[in-house]
Amino acid sequence: MLTVLFLSGKGGVGRTLIITSLATALAMRGGYRVWVVDLDPNATASRVLGVNTPKQR
Ligand SMILES: Nc1ncnc2c1ncn2[C@@H]1O[C@H](COP(=O)(O)OP(=O)(O)O)[C@@H](O)[C@H]1O
Ligand SMILES: [Mg+2]
Repeated sequence: MLTVLFLSGKGGVGRTLIITSLATALAMRGGYRVWVVDLDPNATASRVLGVNTPKQR
């Protein structure tokens, strides 16, 4: 099992881009079951990956 944690207090540094790209690439390559845990209240990564998240206020 491979665990990748991308943590940064600063925003706009490419967290969402890197995690969603890496997850998509591994999933498309096959042989991997990929689990993305999105702890950001903005839920951008979840939306990018197709999760229907509640609207932000
Ligand atoms: N390596 C990169 N080169 C060019 N633009 C990038 C790169 N990484 C991120 N960006 C752009 O910077 C912005 C913020 O990226 P994002 O992944 O949403 O950051 P974070 O999740 O850390 O807030 C987005 O518009 C994204 O397209
Ligand atoms: Mg983000």
